[in-house]
Amino acid sequence: MISLSSCDTCSSKGSCPSAGQADCPGEVQAPPRDAPHPQASIRRVVGICSGKGGVGKSLVTALTAIGLTRQGLKVGILDADITGPSVPKAFGLSGRLSGTDDGIYPARTGLGIQVVSINLLLDDQAAPVIWRGPILAGVVRQFWKDVIWDQLDVLLIDMPPGTGDVPLTVFQSIPLDGLIMVTTPQDLVSMIVKKAHAMARMMNVNLLGLVENMAWLRCPDCDHEISLFGAGQTETAAAGMALPLLDRLPLDPALAALVDQGRLEDCAEPLLRQSVAAIAQLVQENP
Ligand SMILES: Nc1ncnc2c1ncn2[C@@H]1O[C@H](COP(=O)(O)OP(=O)(O)OP(=O)(O)O)[C@@H](O)[C@H]1O
Ligand SMILES: [Mg+2]
Ligand SMILES: [Zn+2]
Repeated sequence: MISLSSCDTCSSKGSCPSAGQADCPGEVQAPPRDAPHPQASIRRVVGICSGKGGVGKSLVTALTAIGLTRQGLKVGILDADITGPSVPKAFGLSGRLSGTDDGIYPARTGLGIQVVSINLLLDDQAAPVIWRGPILAGVVRQFWKDVIWDQLDVLLIDMPPGTGDVPLTVFQSIPLDGLIMVTTPQDLVSMIVKKAHAMARMMNVNLLGLVENMAWLRCPDCDHEISLFGAGQTETAAAGMALPLLDRLPLDPALAALVDQGRLEDCAEPLLRQSVAAIAQLVQENP
């Protein structure tokens, strides 16, 4: 039971957006964090999250991994979106992960990005994963504890969308050094992003900033930029949350095609530069 008086003793009182309100979720008591596999080596862990599904979180995760790899960093992706795993597809990965009694070995993309996803463990990739929340969260924790990540500078986590049970467990069991939030222009000015933002703050995660996806439409015929929303709206919304707007990504049919063909690494254009720079900076700070 959570009562209003729980705010009085809550350590998040100063920063909690729902302090004193009837919907206060109360202080989130974090259980002890899981340790990664003893043979795994990971310098930094950065989550990519969103307030809801389908906003391009997996695309942003994959593009960020590609950008960091091209800077010479060793990068892994933990696909924690168990019910909607789409990371392997963007890289054209299929087949099964190998493992021993010791642990699980990640798959490798053409560029050498290490990937672990439920899709690389299921016999039928088209079969829906209909497990309940605690089982889903357990799989994510296993990807963290049982995978032998090889000398990573950065592990990116494609988070389950939203603010429910499964993302909460990820926040609680994996020590995130930073978090990037992906949003569409519509969501940025709605409650969805504010809720996700509030959750990240309650979990005390270092929010590096926002990526605005589908920010404009690039005409495939003439390269003309079509803005779906008034210019400046998103900057205002981001500033209102005191969050840096790191990057804006257009809705680009060429990107969608590369994902569908499993050839995202063929995308030569350096995208999401500021997000890549922010994560590279985090890595540098932790030699
Ligand atoms: N900027 C973009 N340009 C073109 N296509 C895009 C763009 N962003 C996302 N898409 C496409 O939209 C679909 C959804 O994107 P993606 O899978 O990255 O979203 P998601 O937030 O991870 O969704 P889910 O919640 O289902 O995991 C994919 O087919 C992706 O290729
Ligand atoms: Mg996804
Ligand atoms: Zn045109």
